[in-house]
Amino acid sequence: MNKKPDLLIINCKELLTMRGASKKPKAGQQLDDVGVIHDGAIAICEERITDIGETKTLKVRYKDCSSIIDASGKVVSPGFVDCHTHAVFGGSRERELVEKIKGETYLDILKQGGGILSTVCDTRKLSIDKLIKKTKKHLDNMLAHGTTTVEIKSGYGLDLENELKILKVIKVLNETHPIDIVPTFLGAHVVPEEYKTNPDQYVNLVIYMLSEVKEYAKYCDVFCDSVAFTVEQSKRILTEAKERGLSLKMHINEFKNIGGARLGADLGVVSADHLDLITDGEIDELVKTNVIGVLLPGVNFYLMNNNYAPLKSMLEKGLPIALATDFNPGTCPTENMQIIITIACLEMKMSTEQALNASTINAAHAIGVANEVGSLEAGKIADIILFDIPDYNYIPYHFGVNNVEKVIKRGRLVVDNNRG
Ligand code: NIG
Ligand code: FE
Repeated sequence: MNKKPDLLIINCKELLTMRGASKKPKAGQQLDDVGVIHDGAIAICEERITDIGETKTLKVRYKDCSSIIDASGKVVSPGFVDCHTHAVFGGSRERELVEKIKGETYLDILKQGGGILSTVCDTRKLSIDKLIKKTKKHLDNMLAHGTTTVEIKSGYGLDLENELKILKVIKVLNETHPIDIVPTFLGAHVVPEEYKTNPDQYVNLVIYMLSEVKEYAKYCDVFCDSVAFTVEQSKRILTEAKERGLSLKMHINEFKNIGGARLGADLGVVSADHLDLITDGEIDELVKTNVIGVLLPGVNFYLMNNNYAPLKSMLEKGLPIALATDFNPGTCPTENMQIIITIACLEMKMSTEQALNASTINAAHAIGVANEVGSLEAGKIADIILFDIPDYNYIPYHFGVNNVEKVIKRGRLVVDNNRG
């Protein structure tokens, strides 16, 4: 017999479980199934789901439970897992939006010392306490919009002191904020101004930093692209990171295809992210080596380019795909996964089912936490969203607003947008 629950959620009109994929991410047709239970219920004890099924069954089984949330007419899903963000940064870049509208490109702005480099200046200036305060607001926004687990990369410090500062901000927030955070070291975001004439020397510094930062990070990521690091440089950094016990990720094919996919496949990265300009042959390589493709369509939307990743080929070839915001001050300033789902559906022609799987269970796989979160199944952490909407297709449909009514994190009600 299951433990007596301390919370029962009943009468869920559509309970989206995403079940059956905790061991292996979903690919191909598996992405069409969101595991709906109509008139569903969830029993929670402490921070975990202890039972899930139909309301009529669970109501009888747990008739003594006094703490009940009635989800009549609501859609209920796992909390979103935002598996790729750069949420710790100083300043903001709304000026770039004005320049972009006038016709400047993101790459022009970056070459002139703007873009990522200007955020590096603003981030270096902030004390750890100010950075914690600023990032907390972003996490509050994420949680209010249904994100219960997030990956955050460093990468706006670009020297040991400031990269460590960012990773410590992540650690403090992971211990104090309801959202669970998976930390990634992205010392190889771009080459900082002071190493412009000698990028390889900066690569040496990144490799040196690895030993100092490894206790604060689960993953090491490299931006392998024309504006950042070559395949050779990326290989050096990632090989050293792997030797120090870090798991690997790569940003590839955002601006130019310089061959990062093959390297990612060779090194066994957990995920390859962006993939906008990837070829069919490279998709095959990623599939063969069990790499997850993290798609970031909010970036294409915000950069006003049409280089959306080739979803159709990815699905046909069986690449497991995840979705994330890439939340950062330059190429995607939003914490809201619901908007990303809308963009994925409208611009990439993703179905709602595919987008929801990609934002929950597959995203959890992309950051190595699918054994704990990403689906609603007995034994998993109770991270749950209640949407005040008629059916799940309403999530991409009613866009630019927050469709989330309540968020439960580790079995505790942490957001109630309905409460005055
Ligand atoms: O994922 N690709 C690299 N980094 C970010 C952009 C960061 C910025 O513009 O500040 C991205 O798009
Ligand atoms: Fe990114």
